[in-house]
Amino acid sequence: MTDKKSLPARLSGKDEGTFAFLTIRDRMPVILTKAIDVVHRHGGKLNEDKDKAGTRDCSSIVARLSQLKSEMTTNKPMRRVDDDGDDVAQWNGLVDRVKAETGVEPAWFSTSWLFAECYMYRRIREAIALSDRLKTFDPFENQKRESFHASKKAMLTLAANFDQYIKRAQDKKDDPASLRGDFERILKHSLWGNKTDLSILATRSNDSQDLSQLQVSSHDALLALDDHILVDDADSTFDVLLRSSRRRVDVVLDNSGFELFNDLCLADWLLESGLARNVHLHLKTIPWFVSDALRRDFDWLLDQLDAADASLSALGRRWRSRVETNRWIVTEHAFWTLPHEFVHMNDIAPDLHADLAKADLIFFKGDLNYRKLLADRHWAHCTSFTESLCGFRPAPLCALRSLKAELVTGLASGRADELFGEARDWLVSGQYAVIQLAV
Ligand code: F6P
Ligand code: MG
Repeated sequence: MTDKKSLPARLSGKDEGTFAFLTIRDRMPVILTKAIDVVHRHGGKLNEDKDKAGTRDCSSIVARLSQLKSEMTTNKPMRRVDDDGDDVAQWNGLVDRVKAETGVEPAWFSTSWLFAECYMYRRIREAIALSDRLKTFDPFENQKRESFHASKKAMLTLAANFDQYIKRAQDKKDDPASLRGDFERILKHSLWGNKTDLSILATRSNDSQDLSQLQVSSHDALLALDDHILVDDADSTFDVLLRSSRRRVDVVLDNSGFELFNDLCLADWLLESGLARNVHLHLKTIPWFVSDALRRDFDWLLDQLDAADASLSALGRRWRSRVETNRWIVTEHAFWTLPHEFVHMNDIAPDLHADLAKADLIFFKGDLNYRKLLADRHWAHCTSFTESLCGFRPAPLCALRSLKAELVTGLASGRADELFGEARDWLVSGQYAVIQLAV
C-alpha cells in the first residue's frame, strides 16, 4: 500500500503541455464560450417574445459567465461561491482551505486540475442560480438533445441486437451462468458508450460527424475494439454478479444521450437475466461536464424513446415501468458534483457511502468518475488498480472508462511504453478503455 505521505502528485494545469494544462487553456474556454452563446441566443428569443425580465436575466448571466471566462484565461484567484445552493459551504470550505494552506487563493493553472475543472462548472451554476427566473436553465441542454438525435441510427442498430440478448436472458433465467458471453458484450457497449462525451468534442470542428464515428453499435464494431481494452475484468465482474446475494447493482452514471442509452441496456439486461433484482442509477443534480446526465435528461430520454418507432418505443415503455415498479431506483446526490476524490466520500457524504455499501456491485462510468476514484494523481501505470483507490471500496466496484485524461493504473509493467509507441495520445484520445474490478 502506498504510504499516505508518498502519494503521487495531483494532475494540475501548472504542468505546461500536459492534457490538464491544455484543457484549462484551450478546452474550458471553448466550453464556456459555447455556454455564453447559448444564453445570449436564449435572451434574443425572450426579447422577441417581449419577456423583459427574462431578457435581463440572460444579460446578467452572460455578464457573469464572461467575467468567469476572463478570470480563468488570466489565471485569477478563484473566489468563494456565492449563491444559495446547499453545497456552498462545502465549496467555500475548500477554497478557504487552499488559502489557509498556501497563503493564497487557488488559481486556475496552479491548483489541482480536478478542482479547477469542477469549480468552472460550479461557477456556471452560480451564474445561472443568481438569476431571477432562469434558475433551472441548463446551458448544455441543446447539445445533449442534439447528440441524442444524432445517435438515433446507432440506437436502432443496438436495439435490434439487444432484443436478442433480452430473449436469451428470459430463456436462460434459471441458468444465468450461461449468459457470460452476452454480459460481456453488453458491458462493452456500456463501456464504449463513454467515447461519446461531449466535453471532449468541444474543441473539435464537426461535432455531429465526430459523434457518429464514435458510436459503437454493431457486433463487428464492438469486436474490432477488443484490442483497445487495456484491462478487461469483465469475466471476474460476471463472477461477482453470479455470487451476489442481495442482487443490488448500482450504476454511477456519466453522460446522457447515447452513453445513457447503453447504460440503461445494461441495467435492463441485469434485471431480465435475474442477475440483479434492483438497479440503482445515480445522476447529477446540476449541469456538469457538458453531457453528464441529470434527472431531466433521463426522463427526456424515456419520453423520446416512447415517442420513437417500434423497437425504441418498446424499450421506452419497459424502462419506464422499471422506474414505476422500483426495479430501477433513480437517485441523485450533491456529492457527485463536488470536486472530492472518492476516498473522502465517507467523511463528506457518509449517507451516500452507506447507501453504496448495500450494493453487491457498483459500476462507475466514465473518465471523471475514474479520475475521482484515483484521486486524479500521477500514479505509476503499473500500480495496482486497488492500491490507487486509496482504500475506497464501499462494495465491489467496476470502473468502465474510455481514457480521456493522463492517468491509468493496473497496466503490466512496460505496457505504457508500448502504448506510447502505438499511439502518442493513447491516454487522452478516448480510443482506449479499461474494465477494472476491485473486490
Ligand atoms: O476534461 C476533463 C475530462 O475529465 C476529460 O478527461 C474528459 O474528456 C471529460 O472531462 C469527461 O469525461 P467523462 O464524460 O467520460 O467523465
Ligand atoms: Mg461526463
